[in-house]
Amino acid sequence: MAENSVRSVAVVGAGLVGLGWAIVFSRAGLPVTIYDASMEARAAALGRLSASLGDMKAAGLLDNVAELLGRMRVVETLAEAVADADYVQESVFERVNTKTEIANAIGPLLKTGAVVGSSSSGIPASAFIEHATNRERFLIVHPVNPPHLIPLVELVPAPWTDAAIVPAARRFMNMVGQVPIVVNREVEGFILNRLQGALLNEAWALFEEGYASVEDIDLTVSHGLGFRWCFMGPFETIDLNAPGGVADYARRLGPLYHSIAKARSNPKPWNEDLAGRVEAERRQKLAIDQLPERSAWRDRRLMALLRHKNTQSDT
Ligand SMILES: NC(=O)c1ccc[n+]([C@@H]2O[C@H](COP(=O)([O-])OP(=O)(O)OC[C@H]3O[C@@H](n4cnc5c(N)ncnc54)[C@H](O)[C@@H]3O)[C@@H](O)[C@H]2O)c1
Repeated sequence: MAENSVRSVAVVGAGLVGLGWAIVFSRAGLPVTIYDASMEARAAALGRLSASLGDMKAAGLLDNVAELLGRMRVVETLAEAVADADYVQESVFERVNTKTEIANAIGPLLKTGAVVGSSSSGIPASAFIEHATNRERFLIVHPVNPPHLIPLVELVPAPWTDAAIVPAARRFMNMVGQVPIVVNREVEGFILNRLQGALLNEAWALFEEGYASVEDIDLTVSHGLGFRWCFMGPFETIDLNAPGGVADYARRLGPLYHSIAKARSNPKPWNEDLAGRVEAERRQKLAIDQLPERSAWRDRRLMALLRHKNTQSDT
């Protein structure tokens, strides 16, 4: 797959993530066929896409809604979706059996040279592509939700992925406006969810041990750590936090972090009682029926942030 030879894309699975991907590819000027096994999802797809594009237009992120919609086509069969696609983005349920079935179904339908990226959040490709036809052309292309507003994608090859596919997928993702990173070999949770997991596990533990409320732990990120994290990562952050750079920081604060890590050598599961206490605090702050409204608010904040980042040349 040479990135400039991708003339058509298929999106398989038209849920939250699949529809976000459809916007990414259409925004880059590519025709997109969209397939979902559920008739309801197929019927709802264009309406949901239209609503998302409308929100993006209102946020000043695009102005050609009709043009983008015009490049998207919802089709009735997997074969119709995949037949002409040079790149297929699979975004079906995160279950090994569903991923295996769809990989086995897509494999024989691929046109010569076509590549399949799976949106899998943590299941490595080797768990579901082993018996797929053309398995050397599958890899993980894991986005962050929603992919049309958060550009990072993780590329994770399986042991059987053709070595040339990863750099080609990287160039293709750059071409469609995403920011790809490469995970050199399979690891549970890849990079993003391992980093997120480290923070989440500590947040749950600190709450369980009574050190702070859910709200105050959230504020520590939303008004503290997160400020820097939307334009620099943890290594660059500490490189700037000691006069002599990252090695100086490691000398000064390495022992503290080592001591903290040793104290957490016996991690606990997020048990029901604990989840109930976190839930109770969150529900006081936000009623369950207000979750969709708050998600829409989050997306509007992300759109404003994306618009700001699009104006910066140095991030
Ligand atoms: N939601 C997130 O935050 C997020 C972030 C990154 C990656 N992902 C990953 O993206 C994938 C999709 O997640 P989602 O959140 O969009 O889920 P979702 O439930 O919103 O959508 C999944 C869609 O796949 C369809 N589907 C199921 N089996 C199918 C099949 N055999 N053929 C065609 N369509 C089929 C379903 O009908 C559904 O519409 C998962 O692997 C998930 O882990 C999700």
